[in-house]
Amino acid sequence: MTPITIKQPFIITIFGASGDLAKLMLFPALYSLYEQGRLPVDFYIIGFARTKKTDSAFQQDFIASVKAAAGGVVNESALKKLSERVRYFTGEYGRSADFESYAKFLKSLKLPANSLHLAYFSVPSVAYKPIIENLAALSKSGLYHIRLILEKPFGVDKQSAEDIFHFALQHFEEEKFYLLDHYLGKPAVRSIMHLRESNRILSHMMRGYEIANVQITAFEEFGVKERASYFDQVGTIKDFVQSHLMQILALATMSLPIDKNAQSLQREKYGVLAAIECPHDPKNIVIGQYQGYTKENGVPQDSHTETFAALRLFIDRLDWFGVPIYVRTGKRLAKKQTYVVVELKKFPFQAANEPPNRLIFELYPFEQAHLTLLNKQEDPAALQEIIASHSVACNVKAKCLPPGHAPLLLDVLRGEKKYFLSFPEIIASWDVVDKISALIADNKIKLELYQAGSSGPAAHLRLPARDGFNWYSLPS
Ligand code: BG6
Repeated sequence: MTPITIKQPFIITIFGASGDLAKLMLFPALYSLYEQGRLPVDFYIIGFARTKKTDSAFQQDFIASVKAAAGGVVNESALKKLSERVRYFTGEYGRSADFESYAKFLKSLKLPANSLHLAYFSVPSVAYKPIIENLAALSKSGLYHIRLILEKPFGVDKQSAEDIFHFALQHFEEEKFYLLDHYLGKPAVRSIMHLRESNRILSHMMRGYEIANVQITAFEEFGVKERASYFDQVGTIKDFVQSHLMQILALATMSLPIDKNAQSLQREKYGVLAAIECPHDPKNIVIGQYQGYTKENGVPQDSHTETFAALRLFIDRLDWFGVPIYVRTGKRLAKKQTYVVVELKKFPFQAANEPPNRLIFELYPFEQAHLTLLNKQEDPAALQEIIASHSVACNVKAKCLPPGHAPLLLDVLRGEKKYFLSFPEIIASWDVVDKISALIADNKIKLELYQAGSSGPAAHLRLPARDGFNWYSLPS
């Protein structure tokens, strides 16, 4: 298949261009698309931020960020050519006069009238409103065809998310918004759905009636790094569970969409997210903090922010009735690993100690799916496990698009919204998270300390144990 390439000229303006997201994710993603020849002849990358900076200083930042992300292995000449398309604009997000100058600056670039204008919000969500308002004023003057990319977290709770969305929709039509969670750009995450829709055998297996439990694990090895000031205000549940894990959960448990379009997929994901039974019982929630977190640069010494969370959830739908869904994630754990385990029910005549059939989607570090089939011989000692393993995407060592932002930027450029979120999905996820946050705020859940490099607080083992199950660990 020929790779997707973009022909339409475009400008991408990155608001918050001096931040981590831009440096760690967006610049490398743009480089990767350019280096693979997927971008058109005419385009510009513009950094818009408050700090004063020259074009050439910003170009140097751009080059340095790409090199750092690629571990120094880059196509030097491609990177140099790309950096010539990079410009910097100093402006305040809330000052309309700055946006008027910015409009003049865009015109001076003399791109064709059919050019797309991507506005990437790489800023905290409190800065969304002034930028949206100022862009709306510019778009009325018919500058460029605009698409707005908003990245998770969308607000800090349900109310702030609703507030942003109402505000946003007063200024732009809904179709102009691309609500981005970079997990939906990862080929392995997309594969959860591709495998289900391409293999009827899997779709049959993955119906709630057939399933004993679902487990989603997303462990990270590193701590808060230099993002403490952001992270300490939100914690793992808002940072990781609210969008990344809820989206994975939705892809694994939704009914298959009847159509291939974005609306069908978003509708099915919403159907699951809105049906998540919130864990009113604090026994269904375990939160933890790694030892040494409060000594990290920028973390208050008395911080109670959780760096680990595990939940026992249910989906309030007939097909999923009584099937527990366990999710767990945290920082400074033994190693980075992301995987989904779908454990199938056993027949009543199967012995309790017989292992169940499992379907495992490994998302990181390897991207593959396994299916365990048991072949039981008359002699109980001869129980055979047949593991069908299929690599569904390139693994981390192979040369491929960096997972996440690059495929999603390509999607925005071609107007494909399938792997973006809908407003209702986001609100439904916040609904769950807000209820958990309220229990935490009421001191109903104890913060467990755990050792850095461990598998998290031992207390989280009790969640599946309540139903007679165990967390599944991938063989190392
Ligand atoms: C981000 C979170 O959205 O995702 C980070 O804010 C987290 O805390 C990161 O580390 C994980 O992304 P990835 O692609 O490295 O798994």
